[in-house]
Amino acid sequence: MKPESQEQRPDAAAETFSAPHSISRRDFLKGAGVAVAVPAGVLGETPGAPSAAGTPEQVHLTFGDDPSRTVFISWASPAQATNPRVLLHRPGGAHTVIPAVQRAYTDGMNGQTVFTYHAKLDSLESHSSYRYSVTANNDSRRQRPFTATFRTAPRGRVPFRWTSYGDLSTPVTSWTRSSPQSYHAVDAVERFQPLFHLLNGDLCYANLNPTAQPAVWADFGNNVQRSAANRPWMPCPGNHEIEFGNGEHGLNSYLTRYALPDNGTSFPGRWYAFRVGSALFISLAADDVIYQDSGAFNSGPAPLTPVASSGHEPIAPGTSIYIHGYSGGAQTRWLEATLAAAQNDTNIDWIIVQMHQDALSSSENGNGSDRGIRETWLPLFDRYGVDLVLCGHDHDYERSWPVRGCNHHVGRDAASGETVDTCQPQPVVTSDPADGRFDTRRGTIHLILGGGGTNMPNDLYGVNPLNGAPQAKVITKANRPTAGAAPGVFVRHSADALEDAIWSARRNTVTGYGIGVFDLEPGSANDPTTVTMRYYQAVGDHGGTSDYELFDTIVLAKARRDAKRSS
Ligand SMILES: [Fe+2]
Ligand SMILES: [Fe+2]
Repeated sequence: MKPESQEQRPDAAAETFSAPHSISRRDFLKGAGVAVAVPAGVLGETPGAPSAAGTPEQVHLTFGDDPSRTVFISWASPAQATNPRVLLHRPGGAHTVIPAVQRAYTDGMNGQTVFTYHAKLDSLESHSSYRYSVTANNDSRRQRPFTATFRTAPRGRVPFRWTSYGDLSTPVTSWTRSSPQSYHAVDAVERFQPLFHLLNGDLCYANLNPTAQPAVWADFGNNVQRSAANRPWMPCPGNHEIEFGNGEHGLNSYLTRYALPDNGTSFPGRWYAFRVGSALFISLAADDVIYQDSGAFNSGPAPLTPVASSGHEPIAPGTSIYIHGYSGGAQTRWLEATLAAAQNDTNIDWIIVQMHQDALSSSENGNGSDRGIRETWLPLFDRYGVDLVLCGHDHDYERSWPVRGCNHHVGRDAASGETVDTCQPQPVVTSDPADGRFDTRRGTIHLILGGGGTNMPNDLYGVNPLNGAPQAKVITKANRPTAGAAPGVFVRHSADALEDAIWSARRNTVTGYGIGVFDLEPGSANDPTTVTMRYYQAVGDHGGTSDYELFDTIVLAKARRDAKRSS
């Protein structure tokens, strides 16, 4: 592991790269001698049109440090753009030009160079609508450039809505893990018109298509553009963002594409926080603390061979990228400092965490719970009163009771049955409250929202065969690759322990697909503030459906921090 000071910023690559102008992505690939499947229509190019080298595609928004003032507009283009820029339209036909900064990287597997552009719009008015265009001198649509509108966040104690899911993939089903549902999932966000969307990891599964990673990202980016160009999509990295050939932690593709609030550490872009109204949102990179080995993996028997131009050696069977502990504790120190600051700010009523992997999941055919999160971050969530934790990783819907603290030495080894300390979270209630409202000052509710749109739903759940109670798999140690039964083939075993899932409140056995919709009401000095969570399921499974129907509703309620008396 490198010391923090040696961590390379993703945009550093752009400063050292010099690319030819005015060639298409296909020409670029041809020149590199790489055969990459590029599904028709995903590039946004018009046949017979002039050079599309700088034509924006994959347009997406993110909030900056202050969502009421700062928005990043980001995009990619098939090759290097000339004078990439945003036109921010003003009433009366005038516009302001904001130049974009280039970040580029060359995929370490197939040699394709990816060009992305990021324009920071600052000093915006809060709670306001803006119309913008993105273009470049070599944009084939320069006369009618891509144009969309967005809204900045409101300020103060005001109502707003956000949505969340993870594990989206792409609608191009020739890619591993892609599914038609990922198309409908983007429309679902638009249907609910949130201020922003939390995309909680496993964005497109490019690392399962290792010879075509940039093309998978392009299909993902062009799919989500239908929503992400209209409202910020705030991501966190999942295990499938960890790619062979793309940096020490495998995150170059992810980091190059997203401009996110600064975390002040030498690991930019991985974790961050932002504030909307009376809620603090904290986005974490859980691969830093989980035990599970679930990033890029060559199971064999053949080596994976990067293109010669990459200069990379073949990747031997049994190789995986395991980045547990990569920040050396920097992320956890940042998390505690961020939570401590929130505790001292009485304008913050709610703390919402998003991360990809799960502390509380009882999926049977998914990954299960990870003790790394339980022992590293759950004590901080308890100490500083985190209200909600939104995760994906298991492709299903599960809701926990509010939990605080944990029971030790009540788990069992999955193979031997011997006692294992899984740090079993303790529920503070195990039935619905009489008034229908959960008080999350007493405990944190965890939600699994991993149903964006992969082709692998995980909506089968564990049951203890002895008593019929919910049972969870728990990963308590690293499952590094070991030799499998066939010669040259390696496996990563699943969770090593089991526990009774006494914390599990609701599991969706109907479908793995859905979206969480959250409405914050600020209340008043006398009335509680509330967050209403509605989970809508999409009963389409492998065929895909645009029909999302209500499955679960909970209300979180508590006195505001500025209330005269705490109720
Ligand atoms: Fe996933
Ligand atoms: Fe995952």
